[in-house]
Order: sequence, then structure tokens, then C-alpha cells
Amino acid sequence: MSVAIVRAVLHEAFKGRRADRIPETELVMNASQTVADYSSCGDQDGALYGPYLYNALQVSARLKEGDKVIDLGCGSGRLLNIIAQWNPAVEFIGVDLAPAMLDAARQQASKLGLGNVTYRSGDFSTLDDFETSSADAVISSMALHHLPDRSALTRCFSAIGRVLRADGTLYLMDFGRLRSMEAIEVFVSLVARTESTALSEDYRASLKAAFLPTDFADEVVKLDRVGIELHRTIIAPLVIVVSTPLPSTPLRPSVVTAYRRAVQTLSRSRQSELNQLRLFLKLGGLAAPL
Ligand SMILES: C[S@@+](CC[C@H](N)C(=O)[O-])C[C@H]1O[C@@H](n2cnc3c(N)ncnc32)[C@H](O)[C@@H]1O
Repeated sequence: MSVAIVRAVLHEAFKGRRADRIPETELVMNASQTVADYSSCGDQDGALYGPYLYNALQVSARLKEGDKVIDLGCGSGRLLNIIAQWNPAVEFIGVDLAPAMLDAARQQASKLGLGNVTYRSGDFSTLDDFETSSADAVISSMALHHLPDRSALTRCFSAIGRVLRADGTLYLMDFGRLRSMEAIEVFVSLVARTESTALSEDYRASLKAAFLPTDFADEVVKLDRVGIELHRTIIAPLVIVVSTPLPSTPLRPSVVTAYRRAVQTLSRSRQSELNQLRLFLKLGGLAAPL
């Protein structure tokens, strides 16, 4: 473990000045430059592509043929389109409030010829357009920290509880907030070594806006569903996953092949980032399907 990480962890545990949550300045990401920059991070070998492959595998392992899945804050659809490609017999609906993100998502889905995914405008903190118990699965990646405040997170979990069928599947991944600013700066500086200034700043804003692991834990209790688990990366809760457990059914071979092929296209450094994410979540209790 690098000296910087040890320093961050010590700050977090003993010396850190307690940091208040600072909401994202761009709650809904609709500016054209933001959409272009964000989408490119999710393209092949961009910084987000490895985490997308990880999430796509975790989600795919939890889905069944015929499921209807809602993705909260789908953004430019880079993740949802991968999942839709790997699961042609499942129906996906991406929800976002940014028209420019939705356009980017639709364009890519159309280029890929995907007939099982639609994108619609909607507020994921209320999910007003969705009927009670209408979803077999609710998923989300890196979006919940865009909510303005703690009460919006409560509204969002209550909306999830309403639309998700009683035995439905849940997979929510987001950043977790570190308690000290010093620790946040250490992790941002690690990203800044290899990524653009724009991405490092976006990462800093995300970590400052993230909810605490205890915020998620409180919402999981209120959700009151059997089996929902909360996992966090070990050492520091940089990544949080709230999910239903992995089913015992094996992954479909086509998903395994698609995942392995995609991982092979990653550069060595991106593969090693993906392996770290897998390992740190596994040590935090989240089993990987492969
Ligand atoms: C950081 S992006 C994540 C996109 C995508 N899920 C991913 O993993 O790349 C967060 C997205 O949430 C959207 N968003 C923020 N607040 C929202 C809300 N209340 N309802 C719907 N979408 C929202 C933003 O417009 C943005 O596209």
C-alpha cells in the first residue's frame, strides 16, 4: 500500500478535520462539454470503462430473462448499453433529467442496434412515472451523490421501495464519503497522476458530494427488504454497493465471454485498476461473479 494511502487512512481515523457534505454544483449534467467529457471516460479504455465492466458483470449475474430494469441517473448510457448488449432478453429503461445525456445514450444505443433499451426523462428521487411494483430490478451507478441533500436520498430509497417488486433485484453503486478533507485530497491526487484535470476535479466534487456509508445503512434499514446488503471498499469507503445477493445460478456463458473479451481490450493499467476494485470490494464482502 502506498505511503499516500496510509497517510489518508490515518487522517481518516485519527486526525482528519470532519468535512461537511458539499453537493455537486452541476446536479443535472446537461452542459454539452460535460456530456462529451463524461461520455469519453466511459468509452473503451477511458477511466470509467473498467468500473462499468465490473458493474455490468455484477448486474448481469442478478438478472433473469424477461426482467424489466430501471437505471437511475443513466447519464450517457455507456454502462446501461453494455448491460443491454449482454442481456438481449431483458428490457431496460434509463432515467435521467439531462436531455443532452439522454440524447447521447439514445445515439449510442441506436448505433449498437439495441432494441431492448429506452431512455426517458425523469427524476430518480421520485420515479413518478413508474407504477408501484413495476420493476424487477433497480440499478444505478455513480448517480446518487448527485442528489441535493440527505432528505432527497431518503425520498429516492422510498421511491425504489415503491417501484421495486417485493422479490426484486437491487444493485446501487456509488461513491462513499470519507470523513476528512485530507483523505479526499490524497485520493484525488492519486487520480490526478494519470487522469485529466477535468476528471480529477469531477472526482473531487463527487467525493465531497458523496453520502456517508451510515447514510446508506440507515436507508437500507428503512427499505426493510430481506437480504439487501451494504458493501464498501475495504480500507476507505470510496465505493459503496447496496445490493441483493448474487443468486446461485451460474452466469450465462455469453455474458462470461463478452466480459472476458472486453477486459482483454483494456490496457494493463486499466486492468490493474479493475482488479483493485474487484479486490477491495471483495474484501469488503461483495463477491464477484467471476
Ligand atoms: C455522474 S452521472 C452517472 C451516469 C451513469 N450512471 C454512469 O455510471 O456513468 C450522474 C447522472 O445523474 C443525473 N441526475 C442527477 N440528478 C438526477 C435526478 N434527480 N434524476 C435523474 N437524473 C439525475 C445527471 O444528469 C447525470 O447524468
